[in-house]
Amino acid sequence: MAACFLGLDVGTSSTKVLLIDVSGKVLASDAPEYPFRTPRPLWAEADPEDWWKATVQGIKTVLAKAGKTGSDVAGIGLSGQMHGLVMLDKAGKVLRPCIMWNDQRTAAECAEITAKIGREKILAITGNPVLPGFTAPKVLWVKKNEPEVFAKCAKILLPKDYIRYRMSGAFATEVSDASGMSLLDVPNRKWSKEMLAGCGIPESWMATVTESTEISAKLSPEAAALTGLVAGTPIAGGGGDQAAQAVGCGIVEEGVISATFGTSGVVFAHSRQYRAEPDGRLHAFCAAVPGEWHMMGVMLSAAGSLQWLRDALGAEEVAKAKATGRHVYSLFDEMAASVPAGSDGLLFLPYLSGERAPHPDPYARGAFIGLTLRHNKSHMVRAVMEGITYGMLDSVELMRTAGIRSKTIVASGGGARSPFWRQMMADAFETPIALVNATEGAAYGGALLAAVGTGAYPDVRSAAKACIATTVAANPGPDAKTYAKYYPRYRALYPALKDEFRAIADLNK
Ligand code: XUL
Repeated sequence: MAACFLGLDVGTSSTKVLLIDVSGKVLASDAPEYPFRTPRPLWAEADPEDWWKATVQGIKTVLAKAGKTGSDVAGIGLSGQMHGLVMLDKAGKVLRPCIMWNDQRTAAECAEITAKIGREKILAITGNPVLPGFTAPKVLWVKKNEPEVFAKCAKILLPKDYIRYRMSGAFATEVSDASGMSLLDVPNRKWSKEMLAGCGIPESWMATVTESTEISAKLSPEAAALTGLVAGTPIAGGGGDQAAQAVGCGIVEEGVISATFGTSGVVFAHSRQYRAEPDGRLHAFCAAVPGEWHMMGVMLSAAGSLQWLRDALGAEEVAKAKATGRHVYSLFDEMAASVPAGSDGLLFLPYLSGERAPHPDPYARGAFIGLTLRHNKSHMVRAVMEGITYGMLDSVELMRTAGIRSKTIVASGGGARSPFWRQMMADAFETPIALVNATEGAAYGGALLAAVGTGAYPDVRSAAKACIATTVAANPGPDAKTYAKYYPRYRALYPALKDEFRAIADLNK
């Protein structure tokens, strides 16, 4: 029987489970959901047991849907939400809920680590500043605020690596996810003794680090009995969700940048050599391709800004969409297309949830600038789309400055479904926009990493080449000139408003 591969993505609100065959064809998928909690403002926590239950259920469901048995599965590849802290005692019991990637409680601990080790040194070792979402400052927070938990801790794991532990009993991670902990020596792909010592974290707490394609564990008889898989099934290292998503979209070569226009926005570039943005405005992480790296800019409110506009001002369009059976965003496309590029001088800043790249600033805020009596709702729709696109262009530009050149930019996420928006991207980025046929994201990347790890393909690039096809969907057109005039104006707005944003936020504490 031809081999199948199982890919998992332990996400924020569901675990996606996917079964593919060796040609990359998706045989079945499932995504059991679970909640995460915000017990206090800025906090975000999850129960790792929920992930495990979703994993077991998802695996059983995809095997049944595809009509396969455990013996058809040749390998498993894991991916998941990055940066989360799972703490285990010496018996392997979870000590407290996971503190997740979107938890913002650790500003003080980030400042403490930065003051102790030094910003320059941290950037040189980890490729990034210590950010509140990252893992190490969360450990310090627990030490300070829950000393009894800290005293019992014997291991710390990232979310997908906790699932590996439940599947196999092994304590293992891989370089791409480990890069987001502020504890990895990213250029040298191993734990940094200096960062561990500076954060007061014993090396014995850390999982073994492998490359993403290496087989780091085998399924235990207990996990086999629960899931219907076969004991001994190999589990590849896998990747953090962004690294695995890149594999799943074929972003595994230098010279291709991807731009995901989801609720948040991610601009991602593969790099054969280690490169870091000197001010740490882009993340520099190890890639899921062995011995290579990637750079990444995360925008907190990309297509999310358009969702906001729909909810705040779009009741009429939502009703019209319902009545006509159309999608509200296709009505928005028509409205935006009815006004010229540049929205007759209306600009929008998309910092509705603060920002990460290129302005790591929780106090940044959204704004319409340049309103006149002449502007109507169609102008606002277009200005929002343009503002999001300029925000993504900021990260593309930082990558270009870091020396990454791209012949095409691969667009994905909800925004990439709009032909109108794809044309805007091509014009604003002055680069052709391409789409890929694979739309299953990180779980698909995880499954491909399992296929490489078990020898079905010699390396990640061959797997991506065999399974993923790219087509150019838009080329730069005449509006490129207009965007090139407006983009510098957009760029000038955040520095001009930064202090006011902070002052306004202080009035609203
Ligand atoms: C990456 C990041 C998110 C999370 C959740 O830096 O914060 O992609 O991994 O998906």
